[in-house]
Amino acid sequence: MTITRRKFVRNSSLALGAALLAQKTAFAAPYFPTPHFATPPFAARIEVILNEELGTISPNIYGHFAENLGAVVYDGIWVGENSKIANVGGIRKSLVDALQRISSPVIRWPGGCFADSYDWKDGVGPAAKRPRRTNFWAGEPLVRDQGNIPQKYDPNEFGTNEFAQFCKLAGSQPYFAANVRSLPATDFYRWVEYCNSPAGSTTLADLRAASGSKDPFNVRYWGIGNESWGCGGEMTPGEYATEYRRFAAWVPQYGMDLSFIASGPNDAEYKWTRGFFEGMLQKGPNSLNSIWGLSMHYYSWNLSRGRTRDWNDGKGDAVKFEPVEWYELMREADKLESLIEGHWQVMNEFDAKRRIKLVVDEWGPWYKPGSEVAPTHILGQMITQRDAVMSGLTLDIFNRNPDKVTMANCAQLINCLNSLFLANGDRFLTTPVYHVFQMYAAHQGAQAVRAEFLAPSISYDRDGKPATFWSLKGSASLRGKDLAITVVNPDVSQPHEAEINLLGAEAASGRATVLATTDIHAHNTFDAPEAVKPHAEAWSPTGRSIKYTFAPASITLLQLKLV
Ligand code: AHR
Repeated sequence: MTITRRKFVRNSSLALGAALLAQKTAFAAPYFPTPHFATPPFAARIEVILNEELGTISPNIYGHFAENLGAVVYDGIWVGENSKIANVGGIRKSLVDALQRISSPVIRWPGGCFADSYDWKDGVGPAAKRPRRTNFWAGEPLVRDQGNIPQKYDPNEFGTNEFAQFCKLAGSQPYFAANVRSLPATDFYRWVEYCNSPAGSTTLADLRAASGSKDPFNVRYWGIGNESWGCGGEMTPGEYATEYRRFAAWVPQYGMDLSFIASGPNDAEYKWTRGFFEGMLQKGPNSLNSIWGLSMHYYSWNLSRGRTRDWNDGKGDAVKFEPVEWYELMREADKLESLIEGHWQVMNEFDAKRRIKLVVDEWGPWYKPGSEVAPTHILGQMITQRDAVMSGLTLDIFNRNPDKVTMANCAQLINCLNSLFLANGDRFLTTPVYHVFQMYAAHQGAQAVRAEFLAPSISYDRDGKPATFWSLKGSASLRGKDLAITVVNPDVSQPHEAEINLLGAEAASGRATVLATTDIHAHNTFDAPEAVKPHAEAWSPTGRSIKYTFAPASITLLQLKLV
């Protein structure tokens, strides 16, 4: 019998509802026998519909973001060629080694807000002759009163060649963000020329060669501005559309297809998305051809449970938090899926062929200052198991929407918001978020398939009021006979068992990798850098219907060999 997905999901929901009701009744009235079940029903079901393909998961959704902000570059990526810290041409070696292990596909630089204050010409040519400039973030309380430190007065040691070299070492594509607020379009064209013009062809190609890179960098991804509604120029969407058209017109291509990313909305700013497309179309439908992606930023920062919308007051602490703040972060992060859908709907009104995709080039949790590992680490925060679970939840959202999201960049790579790495001098560690990226790398470039999670909700107290949140969710992808399923259990205290049904295949074998901690605040420190790390779990699944129990506060990768 053929069963449609719609019917299947409806039946599954009804069956689950009945099972939960029966369970509830059994718990509420323990004197009644429960004759319906020889064994208790499974609390949760995961239905993997193998022949329902959602699209190829772009490896680029596992991308990163490295702004010249605080200690992301200086003390993070860049230690300098003369440093005692192991480096490759000044770039921290332990960082590139670790990035290679997670197949880092793309890195965005130099901002963020910094990008619209940056003159790329300051960062090329002989390092000793490069000017020192006041960094965009120099006024931040953490560095404001400090001396001449690179986090405040940028020595420009790390410029275009160094970033391109960093990407090459890490095995990543560079994604540059061009300055739209404070430089004319010519500078953008010249930056493209510097990066991509063939060896010996232009004065800028010669300058690039003199800095050690004869061959072009062939940079494909170019962001035209950043947050142009805010630090990138305080523009209206219509004003930005005009700027975008001007910047994107007649850019030298050097035989490559350049992919331009327009500065897009924040959160639920649908007005920006609509206004930008309307502005673009004032010049006719062909003007959309220059857009490859629309950027979107989403930070999970307001943990106040509706008390305030104030950017500072609403934030929570990175390490000291109650379960309610754990769940609040999950609730905030979970909103991203409906925001993607919302912006996608608006984009489709203008781009009926759905060619232009979303680039979520800044995402992550954002806490109050205070947990940074060193006093120069602006926006630095400690990364706990909460952030790992939140990151798994977010990456699953991207995996479930491969038709809409073509790139995403976690903010930010090192010593900053949702960092995969923390470094200070010669000390270096990988955070729990790093391990999530490593586990989820199994999905890169695979075919996303529909996975329906039918699981009871977690109930908890939200400031005196009962609240719920889902207990299991995730994503699935197929590569040949290899099925990868990632599952997040955000329940702070309870494991959740699930029956996993494979529709269309059966498992011959499998393995499970788990990132779980007994303390939800657990994190890695320079003294205990491996306090949180994944472990392999004994598991021998076979057949069409298999079981797995997901640990509390965990992220799990199930890898199945299908027959
Ligand atoms: O990631 C930190 C900042 O957040 C970026 O510079 C900016 O784009 C965003 O507002």
